[in-house]
Amino acid sequence: MRFIDVITKKRNGKVLSSEEIDFFIKSYTQGEIPDYQVSALLMAIYFNGMNHEEATHLALAMRDSGDVMDLSQIKGVKVDKHSTGGVGDKVTLVLAPIVASLGAKVAKMSGRGLGHTGGTIDKLESIKGFHVELSPDAFIEQVKDIGISVIGQSGDIAPADKKLYALRDVTATVDIIPLIASSIMSKKLASGADAICLDVKVGHGAFMKNTKDATELAQLMVDIGRLAGKKVTAILTNMNQPLGHKIGNALEVYEAMETLKGRGPSDLLDVVTTIASQLLKDANIAKDDEEAKQLITDSIQSGKAYQKFEAFVKAQGGDISVLEHFEDFLSSNKVEVISNKDGYIIDMDALSIGNAAMLLGAGRETKADVIDMSVGIDLHKKIGDHIAKGDVIATLYVNQKGIEEAKSLVLKAITTGKDKVEQNLIRGIVR
Ligand code: URA
Repeated sequence: MRFIDVITKKRNGKVLSSEEIDFFIKSYTQGEIPDYQVSALLMAIYFNGMNHEEATHLALAMRDSGDVMDLSQIKGVKVDKHSTGGVGDKVTLVLAPIVASLGAKVAKMSGRGLGHTGGTIDKLESIKGFHVELSPDAFIEQVKDIGISVIGQSGDIAPADKKLYALRDVTATVDIIPLIASSIMSKKLASGADAICLDVKVGHGAFMKNTKDATELAQLMVDIGRLAGKKVTAILTNMNQPLGHKIGNALEVYEAMETLKGRGPSDLLDVVTTIASQLLKDANIAKDDEEAKQLITDSIQSGKAYQKFEAFVKAQGGDISVLEHFEDFLSSNKVEVISNKDGYIIDMDALSIGNAAMLLGAGRETKADVIDMSVGIDLHKKIGDHIAKGDVIATLYVNQKGIEEAKSLVLKAITTGKDKVEQNLIRGIVR
C-alpha cells in the first residue's frame, strides 16, 4: 500500500477502509511516513470528514498502537470518566473518592492542562508530596487496596494519538469531531475501564460551542465505545461559565475538598452527582438515579467521601496533615476585581476567565511552561447574580505575572442585563 493513495482517496471524499487506517497508524507510529504527508491527510480529513466506521477504526488502531491496560486483577466494575475540558473543572477530584467510597473501582489516568483548560494531574500536584507517576503494578495494587488511584498518562498509552495530536496542534486540524472523538476514545479504551462516563462540555469555555456539535461528538464517542465492547455514556454539561467558583490548581483542590465535606457550590455538586449516578448504575451499585443520589448524599454527609479522598492522597505520597489548612498554599497576594457595571450577570465568558487564570500563571500557554500552583481566580458572582458598580466580583490570587491583563479579562468576560437568566447545567445525556 502507498500512503499517497490513502491521501488521494480521502482528498477525493472517499471512505477509508480499516486496512488503510491501520496502515496509516502503524506506519506513522513507526516513523515510516513523514509529517508532511500525514499533515496532508489530516487536512483532507478536516475538509471531507470521516464516517462512524472510519472514526471507530481510527480509535481502535490508535488504542492498539501502544499498551492496553489490563485491569482484570481488580475485582468489581472498573469505572472511568473523561471531560472534554473546561474552566474550573474539578469534577474528578470530587467524583472519584465518592464513587470509590461506595464500592466502584476507580483506576484512572488523567491529563495535564494546556491553554485555558486545567488538568487533574496538575491540580493533584499542588498537594505536597503527591506522586502522579506509579508503576502499573503499584497502580493496580492501590486500586485493589483502597479502590482508587489517579495517575498521569503513561508513556505507552496510545502513542499514535500523542504523535498525531501534536501534529494536529500545529496544522490547524484539532477541532474536527471524528478526530477529537477517536483521539479521546483511543486513550479511554486503552485505559482498560469497563464503564466510562464522558463529560462533554458545551459553551464558550469548551471545544464544542453549541449543543448540536456537542451531541454529535458525544454520540460518536458513545458509538465507538459500544463497538469496542464498553459501557459508555456521555453527559452534556454547560461550560458557558466556569464550574464552581475557583479556578487555579490549589484553589480547585480546596474547592473540591469543601465539596466532599458538603460545603461545595451547587453547580459542581450537580455535575458530580449526575456523572457519579451514571457510574454507580453501570457498576450495579445503584439500581436507579434516585438510589444513586441517596448513596452519594450519604457518602458526603457521613464523611466517607472525604475519608476516601484522604486515603487516596496518602496512598500516593501526599501529606494529609496539610489538607486542613490548604488555604496556606494559596498566594497571600490578592487583588480584587471591582465591578464597573450594574445589573444581573447574563453571560460570563469562561474562555476569557480561563485565559485570565493562565496569564496569572495557573495554566500553560505552551507545553513547556511551569505552573504556579498558588495563583488563580475566586469568582464571587456567577450568572444569575445581581451586581452593582463597586461590588467585588472576584479575587485574584497573584504573584507578579499577568495581573492587569487578568483583571481586564475578568471584567470584560461579564455581561449584564436587566433580567435575571437561569443556566441549564445538564444539557443532555447520550447513551
Ligand atoms: N482532547 C483529546 O484528547 N483529543 C482531542 O483531539 C481533543 C481534545
